[in-house]
Amino acid sequence: MKVTKKICGLLLCFVLAVCVMAGCRSEQTASDDASKTDGEQTVNDDTKAQDETGTDDGKDGEGESDEKQGQTIALAMPTQSATRWTIDAENMQKELEGKGYTVKSAFADDDPKKQIEQIQQFIADKVDCIVITAVDSGALSDVVKSAEKAGIPVIAYDRLLMDTDAVSFYATFDNKGIGIMIGQAIIEKEKLDDLKDGEYKTIEFFMGSADDNNSIFIYNGLMEALQPYLDDGRLLCKSGRISFEDTCITRWSQDTAKQWCANYLSSYYADEDLDICATAFDGLAYGCRAALLAAGYTDENWPYITGQDCERLACKNILDGTQGMSVCKDNRVLAQKCAIMVDAVLHGTEPEINDTEQYNNNVMNVPSYLCKPVLVDKDNLKEVIIDGEYYTQSEIDEAQ
Ligand code: BGC
Repeated sequence: MKVTKKICGLLLCFVLAVCVMAGCRSEQTASDDASKTDGEQTVNDDTKAQDETGTDDGKDGEGESDEKQGQTIALAMPTQSATRWTIDAENMQKELEGKGYTVKSAFADDDPKKQIEQIQQFIADKVDCIVITAVDSGALSDVVKSAEKAGIPVIAYDRLLMDTDAVSFYATFDNKGIGIMIGQAIIEKEKLDDLKDGEYKTIEFFMGSADDNNSIFIYNGLMEALQPYLDDGRLLCKSGRISFEDTCITRWSQDTAKQWCANYLSSYYADEDLDICATAFDGLAYGCRAALLAAGYTDENWPYITGQDCERLACKNILDGTQGMSVCKDNRVLAQKCAIMVDAVLHGTEPEINDTEQYNNNVMNVPSYLCKPVLVDKDNLKEVIIDGEYYTQSEIDEAQ
């Protein structure tokens, strides 16, 4: 009996020992599992922490450009028919991509309706900012309002956006200064101050599109310089078409300039030569040049023709003497200034502004940056255009 008791006691101890060990084992498992779970949790947290740190780091450093990489800037350009706008778009794209933005552009073929549709599409695409060179400066107020409602800032590039408060900034050139510059070139090259009593030079005017706010600025600048000479008779406009309304050419059309010039030559200049074609754009200068060639003008009686933009073909014509001057508007600088404005509207940085008074769009004075235009003629073309790496000599030679 004693033996049986002993055996039972041993068995009990064994069972207890097994139970205790099993209990320990099961605790061990639980604790392992727990630590494993804790471990995963920790790993997850660490990953999360790293992610956040990564983003935070990014914000302080590289991140601004990362952020910009996600941002798209849309360029609504007027036309590809004047080389100025294709080159402007290329420069803007280079400048903005260099800052980390993605860029998409659309050209409106000088059609205001098409431009409205293109801007509507940009809004539907949820781009981050729209830079607009208007075909018709007064036709975009509704679509620009829609952009504002969608939280998309708008910047006016070269041409002011009229009748809206939904435009943040305006990057352009000193347009009145361009008009004055063209007028002074006429005064100097045609030696108007040296004319004796009763002597005069004949002149006709070919101004910009009335729906482009720049046109009136250029006209006013030109007239500021030339009005005294028109008043005292040293300049004679035989067609009598001097007012802005009578001289503005819709959409800056080269063909219209050619037709007008041909009509003036046949109607008013059968007996005496036309001395000066005062045009506000290289394309208009080409139109006059073609009409003059067709009318038989030669080196002997070739008029002084003015222009604007320093297109490649204009540079070629300046070098061969069939255009007197043009105005270089360095679009590399314009693109830089505009890109600074894009940064300002999207990242709260300081834009560069140097005019808050001249450009009132009927609703507000639009804060503007006016770049400096440079007069180019035969005497300084090499220095400004070729040495300034605006174009190469062969780009000019090959222009047509
Ligand atoms: C620009 C000129 C250009 C003209 C025709 C104007 O708005 O300021 O540079 O010659 O449009 O394209």
